Amino acid sequence: MHSTNFMAKFCFVTGFLLVMTIGQGYLQTALAVTAIQYNQNLGTGINLGNALDAPKEGEWGVTLEADYFRLIKEAGFSHVRLPVRWSSHAGLQAPYRIDPVFTERVRWAIKQARQNNLRVVLNMHHYEEFEVDPDAHRERFLALWKQISEEFKNESIDQVAFEIYNEPAKKIRAAFWNQLFAEALAMVRKNNRDRIIVVGPVQWNSVTALDTLQLPDDKNLLVTIHYYEPFHFTHQGAEWVGAESKNWLGTTWSGSAEQIAALKSDFDKAQKWADAHQRPIYLGEFGAYSKADMPSRAKYTQAVRENAAQHGFSAAYWEFCSGFGAYNPVIHSWRKAIRDALIPTKAGH
Ligand code: BGC
Repeated sequence: MHSTNFMAKFCFVTGFLLVMTIGQGYLQTALAVTAIQYNQNLGTGINLGNALDAPKEGEWGVTLEADYFRLIKEAGFSHVRLPVRWSSHAGLQAPYRIDPVFTERVRWAIKQARQNNLRVVLNMHHYEEFEVDPDAHRERFLALWKQISEEFKNESIDQVAFEIYNEPAKKIRAAFWNQLFAEALAMVRKNNRDRIIVVGPVQWNSVTALDTLQLPDDKNLLVTIHYYEPFHFTHQGAEWVGAESKNWLGTTWSGSAEQIAALKSDFDKAQKWADAHQRPIYLGEFGAYSKADMPSRAKYTQAVRENAAQHGFSAAYWEFCSGFGAYNPVIHSWRKAIRDALIPTKAGH
């Protein structure tokens, strides 16, 4: 009698716990946005480039201001991509501690975005030593993500995504990258179970390298590509590309049938990969440097943005107020042709 009573109680309590566990699991799954939904919500955004990704903020001429976030929201963008050079603000020896003052600066930027109802893609950018010697920097790379994921784990999973690395290139080869990404993801998942994580292929996140990307079985991933083709047009006169970029000055882009076909064909390739692998695509960077003529830049920007949308990609223009700038910080004004190319509803205003 006594033991039957015990068994009944045991079954009741176990059953109750089981229902609670399943219930909670269901609730969390139901609340987490799917990657597809998240990608739709990202819509069109803009990169706050050359600010926190400079060796020190301000060194490349951009210091973030609270007003920038308001302006971006008012113009009609729905997210910002926040490029961050963590590596120049962290110790060189284990535990590779990130300067808390810098972390607070990043937190401030996220807060400004959130207050303006802008989603955020927070990344790691320009860890140059890692690109040159990936093996030597592997441990530090992971240690940085351990800290970033812990620091920002309480940010809304509906509003803030993490991007593990911008444009893996140089010595970062596909096999290494696939392996390191899986490790970084497993670590981030410990405290960010349902967060959307962004990852792109090697060779500067190029469409042609998508086939080398091998992803873990994780449904909350967004795959990112960058698009700067034709490169001689978008990077004409770009000092960081090398002396030969001067020879490309004067290259125009008219949106000819041939140019549109090339763009479409590249995006078709990305979409084919996305369909085959069941992953949504985020075009995290595109744009043309200010050395190109404005009518060409505007036509190009509009064509890429439209084609991205037609292919179901979310997109972020490179970038807000520096060399590719959609906004002129000197005269506090949008470059209307670029802004209108990005946000069609503003056309004519
Ligand atoms: C780099 C920038 C560069 C841009 C266009 C970005 O990924 O971080 O420094 O201006 O690509 O080349």
